[in-house]
Amino acid sequence: MYLAFEGIDTVGKSTQIERLSERFPDPLVTREPGGTALGKKIRTILLEEGEVLPRSEILLFLADRAEHTERIVRPNLHRLILSDRSFLSGIAYAHVHDGIAVDTLLQLNRFATGGLFPDRIVLFRIDETSLRERMGQKSGDAIETRGIDYMLRVQKTMEELVDLLQIEHILIDATAPVDAITETLYSYIKDSQA
Ligand code: TMP
Repeated sequence: MYLAFEGIDTVGKSTQIERLSERFPDPLVTREPGGTALGKKIRTILLEEGEVLPRSEILLFLADRAEHTERIVRPNLHRLILSDRSFLSGIAYAHVHDGIAVDTLLQLNRFATGGLFPDRIVLFRIDETSLRERMGQKSGDAIETRGIDYMLRVQKTMEELVDLLQIEHILIDATAPVDAITETLYSYIKDSQA
C-alpha cells in the first residue's frame, strides 16, 4: 500500500512516519522531494539555493516526482510505502503560489507519475495559533518563508483537493498528543491493509 503523509510544514508528518515505521515489518520510508539521487540534488536547489522562477520550480518538483515514482514507489508497491509528501503537495503549493489551474497541475502530475497516485493519504490539519507558535520556533526554508497566510491557504487547498479528487484519506488534528496520533494511524493502516 502506497500511503502519503500530507499537510503543511510543522504538522508532524516526519515524526509520525518515523514512529509508524517501527511498528510495521519492512516498511519503505521515503519522501518528496529528495527520495532519489537526482531528487536530493533537486531538493537542495529548491529549498536551499533560493527561489527559482515559479514555472521552473513546478517542473523541478515534477522531475523529482517522476524519478521517485518510477524508481522507488512503483517497484515497491507490494510493500507498505510511507511517503512524506506526494502530488497533493505538488498541486496545492503550486496552485496557491502561482494561481495555475488545478486541472493543469493535475495533468502535469499525471504525466510525471504515469498516473500512479497514493492509495491513501494521511492529511494533517493545524489551527492558525498553533502554526504561528510552531513556525516561530524554527527557521524556514525558501518555501516556508512565504509566510503563515500562504501556508494556511495551501492547507485549505489540500483539504478541498482530497474531496474534489475523491482520494481515500484520514484527517488528523496535528495538535493532538503525539502518542494518540500514532495509535490512530496504526489502526488506520492495519484496517486499510486488511
Ligand atoms: P519538507 O520536506 O520539509 O516538507 O519541505 C518540502 C517543501 O517543499 C515544503 O515547504 C513543501 C514544498 N513542496 C512544494 O512546494 N511542492 C511540492 O511538490 C512538494 C513535494 C513540496
